[in-house]
Amino acid sequence: MNVLSVHQFDQPQLEEIFGRAEHFGEQLASSSGRRAIAAEHIGETLINLFYEPSTRTRISFGMAASHLGMSVEGTENAEIFSSAAKGETLEDTIRVLNEYDPSVIVLRHPETGSANRAAAVSDVPIINAGDGMGEHPTQALLDLFTIKEAKERLDDLHIVIGGDLVRGRTARSLAQLLALFANNRISFVSLPNQQIGEDVKEHLSDHKLEYEETVDMHSALRTADVVYWTRLQKERVVADAALDVVEPDVNFTINQAALEVLPADSIIMHPLPRVGEITPDVDNDPRAVYFRQAGNGMYVRMALLDIIINDTLD
Ligand code: NCD
Repeated sequence: MNVLSVHQFDQPQLEEIFGRAEHFGEQLASSSGRRAIAAEHIGETLINLFYEPSTRTRISFGMAASHLGMSVEGTENAEIFSSAAKGETLEDTIRVLNEYDPSVIVLRHPETGSANRAAAVSDVPIINAGDGMGEHPTQALLDLFTIKEAKERLDDLHIVIGGDLVRGRTARSLAQLLALFANNRISFVSLPNQQIGEDVKEHLSDHKLEYEETVDMHSALRTADVVYWTRLQKERVVADAALDVVEPDVNFTINQAALEVLPADSIIMHPLPRVGEITPDVDNDPRAVYFRQAGNGMYVRMALLDIIINDTLD
């Protein structure tokens, strides 16, 4: 099984993944539990192939594999450290890695559609760890897992998604995954030149998910159950010079003034890294769950690896 897009999942599959993730979270909480799962996938291997910077995704996949007894190989900064620097195509690199018979290849690449290209030439499962301005499906899975953990439901939610939504792949994936659940409503908060893509809006309309687009962050926050904030994707602005860069200002910053209008039982999420759009004084607010959210990534990735290797997802 490849993991290429959130479109491939249905509700029962998400429940299966989240159940496994909870199980692994519980196992990791005790040394006997850690030992019990440490032999689960001995002999299996993961290759991390990252052509773009990563902290959480690459390390949490590596840690997830290690906790399950797998061995981990790979390269960070593959653009420079792999044969890509000599001009090798992604397809050729994937074909070569297939020859080493790994159990799974985790790929992050700056081009939208690259994970699909890799999967087309690979017998080994490909996990899309972010393809340019396309998708980041495993991030959306851990985001949803975090919402479920904190809110105890995945329907009937008002989710406020803000930031650079035209270039941010995590917002794109999460919004589309939320469309699987009933009665959710999304407010997209962004500057007019950073709005969420038409393809995402079409997907939401097809799934009858109600959404609005606004520049008024404070009024959107007033009724939020979930706030999902993102950074300006500066590195992609360079590659996409047609779009004007407008730095988000104080009106797009989650700070003490934003906390004042946010409901007491809401949660504040961010895929991280944040670079100013959530001020550090928000971190101690009980509604801030972004570091826990990052931690959940490891459990969800353990679940995915386990499910892919055992081929247990219907
Ligand atoms: C995100 C990404 O790579 O898209 N990072 C992550 O994996 N948590 C978000 C970002 O870089 O802004």
